[in-house]
Amino acid sequence: MNYQFALIGYPIKHSLSPWIHEQFLKKSGLKGSYSIMEINPDDSFDEKITEIKKSQINGFNVTVPYKKRIIPFLDELDEQAREIGAVNTVVYRNGKWIGYNTDGSGYVRAFENKYPEVLSNPKNNILLIGAGGAARGIYHALTTTGCHHVDIANRTKSSAVEIARLKKEPTKTAFLTMGEVRQNFDYYDVVIQTTSVGMKPNQDKCIVHVNRVKPNSIISDIVYQPIMTTFLKQTERLGARIHFGHTMLLYQAQYAFEIWTNQYVHIDEMDDELQDILEGR
Ligand code: ATR
Repeated sequence: MNYQFALIGYPIKHSLSPWIHEQFLKKSGLKGSYSIMEINPDDSFDEKITEIKKSQINGFNVTVPYKKRIIPFLDELDEQAREIGAVNTVVYRNGKWIGYNTDGSGYVRAFENKYPEVLSNPKNNILLIGAGGAARGIYHALTTTGCHHVDIANRTKSSAVEIARLKKEPTKTAFLTMGEVRQNFDYYDVVIQTTSVGMKPNQDKCIVHVNRVKPNSIISDIVYQPIMTTFLKQTERLGARIHFGHTMLLYQAQYAFEIWTNQYVHIDEMDDELQDILEGR
């Protein structure tokens, strides 16, 4: 078997996914390759996908801006992808194209690997900042994991309310304005920053400036360029433990690789290696 995987999206020339999956192939001893198939928004998406589906490909990842657009081209969706309404991983299995979403579960895997038994602790209050596509996947994974208390803060309340429609028992969710985040920040044991605020070249930006954190709390930022965001720097200085965004990238890929090959690969040293790559950019 010579696996063929790919990534579709735009723009993706600088994607780290080929590096990650090539490491996974090496680690698992499987033969294969992972290529970039950029689809320009001016190209015909239908034609490109039809072409890809006719090729010898075993599976592909889907990124911005095509995570929803790919859905009508698939035969089946797994439950997570269906509920989230977005697909980031497609596998060709038994003659069918099946869509999955590994972003949210990848986030939870990454977090639990560093801080086990925190998300599942019913005493812990979790705050999700942002209500875009990434927040939606993460909220879904948190409520599926059984987190008891996950509040959502967003500039636009309606998007937060829309995400909370994914809520499952026993999760409780309240909505906060960004001003309320500042006032109540030290109520939260875990804060997950899911917006793009603070990403290069605007690394000096910070989603919210706070002056205190809950002792022992964990602050997580899904931005990974830079790895040490202003938000993480400021909250770490106030005594928080921090969690880096590049780990989500690794673990969503780990789960995708499992879907494609049935092989579980350990991340181990890849975490530090990816940090080095990102810091060298
Ligand atoms: P993604 O799909 O990558 O998560 P997105 O759908 O563009 O990205 O979502 C961006 C999120 O970041 C949204 O929650 C957005 O807030 P709004 O819903 O109010 O637009 C949030 N966001 C982006 N820029 C922001 C800023 N400068 N301040 C506060 N929130 C911001």
